[in-house]
Amino acid sequence: MTTPVTTSSRLPPEAMLPRPFRVIARKEETADTVTLDLEAEDGESLRFMPGQFTMLYVFGIGEVPISISGDPGSPETLVHTVRAVGAVTQAIATLDEGDPVGIRGPYGSGWPMDATEGKDVVVAAGGIGLAPVRPVLLALLADRGRYGAVSLIYGSRTPSDLLFLEELHAWRSRFDVEIEVTVDRADPGWHGDVGVVTSLLPRVAFEPENTVSVVCGPEIMMKVVAAELASRGVGSGSIYVSLERNMKCAIGFCGHCQFGPEFICRDGPVFPYERVADRMRVHAL
Ligand SMILES: Cc1cc2nc3c(=O)[nH]c(=O)nc-3n(C[C@H](O)[C@H](O)[C@H](O)COP(=O)(O)OP(=O)(O)OC[C@H]3O[C@@H](n4cnc5c(N)ncnc54)[C@H](O)[C@@H]3O)c2cc1C
Ligand code: FES
Repeated sequence: MTTPVTTSSRLPPEAMLPRPFRVIARKEETADTVTLDLEAEDGESLRFMPGQFTMLYVFGIGEVPISISGDPGSPETLVHTVRAVGAVTQAIATLDEGDPVGIRGPYGSGWPMDATEGKDVVVAAGGIGLAPVRPVLLALLADRGRYGAVSLIYGSRTPSDLLFLEELHAWRSRFDVEIEVTVDRADPGWHGDVGVVTSLLPRVAFEPENTVSVVCGPEIMMKVVAAELASRGVGSGSIYVSLERNMKCAIGFCGHCQFGPEFICRDGPVFPYERVADRMRVHAL
């Protein structure tokens, strides 16, 4: 005898239906990373919270989770910054102006923007991890007076892997945000720092007991940064990380992104560090 399938255990088909979008601009950030501006075919804005992601579908190839890297104040353009690492992301990286894509979402928890009000904010990013925290920086800088000291510490493998270079320069010249950048390996033209992201932490101003930190990058990097912040007195409940696992449905249905008792697509991807520290990987992805 077969067990009857109840309505509640069925995935509503519309939940998996992508909305048609079109690429309206394409920018090569680095040799393997592009930023795409997308516009909905129906003209309707896709409002989102910094930290949320969408499922981006390339017709005939597949669908992957990608964080929104654009300005939450300009939801009429959906911005994604994608590093080509496999079949789908390579297909995304070759998309050009006018090409169609499908979008589901936005999904997931956002960075704790309410908790940052009146606080010092330390944003720490590694590699492609700068993309998911860019909306946080744009939101903080758009309303700068509502926050205390704001800083970004950012590390990449080499100088040619640095994302959003023009924007980093522009932020630096504002004088109301501290921008510190380091690379793992310098090249002959590089005059900046070489070393791990945590080596930049002593340079930035923050009062530990009044600080919220937003951390995104490889899990090993997030663990090291969180440990350093905690050793300086930032409460682990005030440190937030964004986690990645393979996803299929993105709506808490299929179990692909199971993370202990939670699903990363539904309960994350942003979590308070203290909630997930014991479950995070200790090696780089
Ligand atoms: C919530 C969330 C937000 C994300 N945001 C971004 C983003 O803003 N920009 C971006 O470039 N990527 C982002 N990713 C990662 C992106 O989804 C993966 O790179 C993509 O799914 C890989 O698919 P693929 O078919 O191109 O490669 P695959 O053929 O699936 O894999 C190629 C290689 O990448 C590894 N890989 C696969 N999935 C992941 C993953 N989730 N994390 C790390 N390594 C993986 C595989 O182990 C393999 O080595 C995000 C992932 C999640 C879960
Ligand atoms: S991707 Fe299906 S439960 Fe998270």
